[in-house]
Amino acid sequence: MIIHLLRDSAALGELAARHVEVAMLETRDQVLGVATGSTPESTYAALSRRAARGTFRTDRLCVFALDEYIGLPRDHPQCYRKVLERSLSEPLGIEPSRIHVPTDDGGSRSASAAKFEEAIVEAGGVHVQILGIGRNGHIGFNEPGSDFHSTTRVVKLAESTRRANSRFFGSIEDVPPRAMSQGLATIMRSRRLMLMAVGAEKAEPIARALAGAVSPALPASVLQRHARLTVYLDRAAATRLDLDAIRSIATVHDWS
Ligand code: F6R
Repeated sequence: MIIHLLRDSAALGELAARHVEVAMLETRDQVLGVATGSTPESTYAALSRRAARGTFRTDRLCVFALDEYIGLPRDHPQCYRKVLERSLSEPLGIEPSRIHVPTDDGGSRSASAAKFEEAIVEAGGVHVQILGIGRNGHIGFNEPGSDFHSTTRVVKLAESTRRANSRFFGSIEDVPPRAMSQGLATIMRSRRLMLMAVGAEKAEPIARALAGAVSPALPASVLQRHARLTVYLDRAAATRLDLDAIRSIATVHDWS
């Protein structure tokens, strides 16, 4: 595990974008896994600047989202496909057909989940997966209790997740209660994982995920088992980590 400590979200985004760019040079199949939410926005903005400068090439880039709400109209501004169009496909010039989102297409949900899993395999597997973390330790929408062997499926959002995400909607009642999410096994199959967290409310889940017991009670703890995990934290998100202790299992780079 490698941990980068950054001054703030902007510095985090710059470093993470540089690492995405370098990692994509390692592979022919340029498959990027993306999270939505606030945390990776500075990385997507930095990637857009790199694409505009011509250092980050997006002509072969193919993107897989972690999750999508169930029940939102397709043109709803908080639909994750729409969010990704605004933050990634438009600024990076990626055709919408190369953005894959696990979607309830009105037919069998288990069939569309299986189709999404197959699409990842057909694309060559995710090379770099960007992850945020929920206050309850979720990754994707794998809420506490999720099976480490889970693959893409319909999930029920925790009350605390709906409350946290109500900031993007009018109220908690407007946040859909269910979503389709990549599973923990799907995420763990990615060749490289980049976990990022910003802000004091992420300090506790980060400390538990990186240095606590590996347990479905805190889904992000499964990431301790990944051979190529890089973590990006701003100062506030790192405050509960025992940095001396974690140096026995991780390389820590302090840029803050
Ligand atoms: C969303 C996702 C979630 C978020 C998490 C943190 O696609 O995968 O796990 O990463 O809820 O969200 P923010 O970054 O908004 O705090």
